[in-house]
Amino acid sequence: MKEKLRSQGWFGKTGKDGFIYRAWMKNQGFPDHEFRGKPVIGICNTWSELTPCNAHFRELAESVKRGVSEAGGFPVEFPVMSLGETLIKPTAMLYRNLASMDVEESIRANPIDGVVLLCGCDKTTPSLVMGACSVDIPALVVSGGPMLTGNYKGQDIGTSDVWRFNDAVRAGEMTQDELTVAEACMCRSRGHCAVMGTASTMACMVESLGISLPGNAAIPAADSRRKVLAQMSGQRIVEMVREDVRLSTVLTRKAFENAIIVNAAIGGSTNFIIHLLAIAGRIGVPLSLQDFDTLSSKIPLVANLQPSGKYFMEDLYYAGGLPALMKELNDSLHGNCPTVNGKTLKENYQAAECYNRQVIATVDQPFSPFSGVAILRGNLCENGAVIKPSAASPHLMKHTGKAVVFENIEEYKNTIDSPDLEIDETSILVLKNVGPIGYPGMPEVGNMAIPKKLLAKGIHDMVRISDGRMSGTGFGTVLVHASPEAATGGNFAVVETGDVIRLDVANRSLILEVSDEELQKRKKNWKPLHKKYDRGYVSLYQQHVEQAHLGADMDYLLGGSGSEVTRDSH
Ligand code: FES
Repeated sequence: MKEKLRSQGWFGKTGKDGFIYRAWMKNQGFPDHEFRGKPVIGICNTWSELTPCNAHFRELAESVKRGVSEAGGFPVEFPVMSLGETLIKPTAMLYRNLASMDVEESIRANPIDGVVLLCGCDKTTPSLVMGACSVDIPALVVSGGPMLTGNYKGQDIGTSDVWRFNDAVRAGEMTQDELTVAEACMCRSRGHCAVMGTASTMACMVESLGISLPGNAAIPAADSRRKVLAQMSGQRIVEMVREDVRLSTVLTRKAFENAIIVNAAIGGSTNFIIHLLAIAGRIGVPLSLQDFDTLSSKIPLVANLQPSGKYFMEDLYYAGGLPALMKELNDSLHGNCPTVNGKTLKENYQAAECYNRQVIATVDQPFSPFSGVAILRGNLCENGAVIKPSAASPHLMKHTGKAVVFENIEEYKNTIDSPDLEIDETSILVLKNVGPIGYPGMPEVGNMAIPKKLLAKGIHDMVRISDGRMSGTGFGTVLVHASPEAATGGNFAVVETGDVIRLDVANRSLILEVSDEELQKRKKNWKPLHKKYDRGYVSLYQQHVEQAHLGADMDYLLGGSGSEVTRDSH
């Protein structure tokens, strides 16, 4: 039981200070008793009409408030920087760390005892969790929920179809008018992407970490039960404040291991790696890139969800949701990990039932033995590169080919469909300068579209390597997060068109068949090609962002500063 509420350091004061802390709040119509010892619950809202996946969050916040009030708390909603994946240029990932700073400082600076994090679109989950970890007060996540499954010409569709539609238009199999019609067919309700893209992956991550109520991951945004979960979360956070259940109570090393195991079984996004590493860095749990391979290599693909499989998040919910899936993984999970509702992870999933084996398979008869992520190493990526085997083509998992190199994304866009491009299906596409420093911000361009002339030959996949990321909704034999990135002048910076690259996923190797002497010679003549920014946040980002294998957080944001505010200006 917590002895003194943090918020009483503001609202519990008398005299001039107490007057100032309470009086202006009272202009919103709050009666005096709200300030007299009730837990103050911040509702950290990423609502924005520019973040369409989170555009329903004001309504969701009302449900949270109802729960907070019911439990005797005082809810206060506040906005933070909202990162909408589809509109933000040059890439939302550039601002993940900035948003996390906003969250951290907003929580610490205000009279907040506990916080509910309203998360939805891809980066809104890690940025809020990272920021909250660095303060480490009681916190739980309410995700916004996935959209209802899209439907185009009688077919179920979701975000992964964007890539298929794009190929179809470029191959002349779909018109621009048809593509325009498909837009509203895909996004037909509130919520985030309906496939197991990054947003859904993040929602599963928080549930498997134990920092949301059970069932949070899959309830569709449009389902009234999403509001029920939000209200129950509002109730629970008040109890968590009274019990002093902080993020660090729940986020142990074992909780991170659980999240990695679940991510493998659901075929989650490769972005999971970079965000989980960053969260671990904030809460002070040791986690390495290799852990993702080691922990997930024996876990089969249990969820049949796009882009690795067939179905959508709505189907996962009807099939029993993440609790039913975690029950299948019982032998692999640390079931005794605590979660925010006061029960263990196992207590939360042990009564779950699977209602559809087409969507959630058993471990004994999985959809695929290939799951999770494989971490590749070699002279092309000394600190690792990532591939998602469940979304890759089996025939390309062992492949040797000649590199076709693009020095930056603009060169790729300008030349990929040129009839003069010397390329065939055995070639390996290499895209440089899309890493954290080089782009900057590590955009999701790693799943490069296949050249038109190969599409015309019926080729729909080839090996692609970059120092960027790929969309969680993307698929193909795509190697991302090559580290160190090209902008640092390592081996990846000097790979040239025509060099032979050998990929062997089973043996976890990615080798550039160029001698050390030749590589050293090239590195001596290497000059950085990326733009260096000299002002503002982007300059700060380029100076301090860590490489992908460490989570791409700022070096100065590792760890936390706690919740204490030591100075008072009033
Ligand atoms: Fe927001 Fe996909 S664009 S989750």
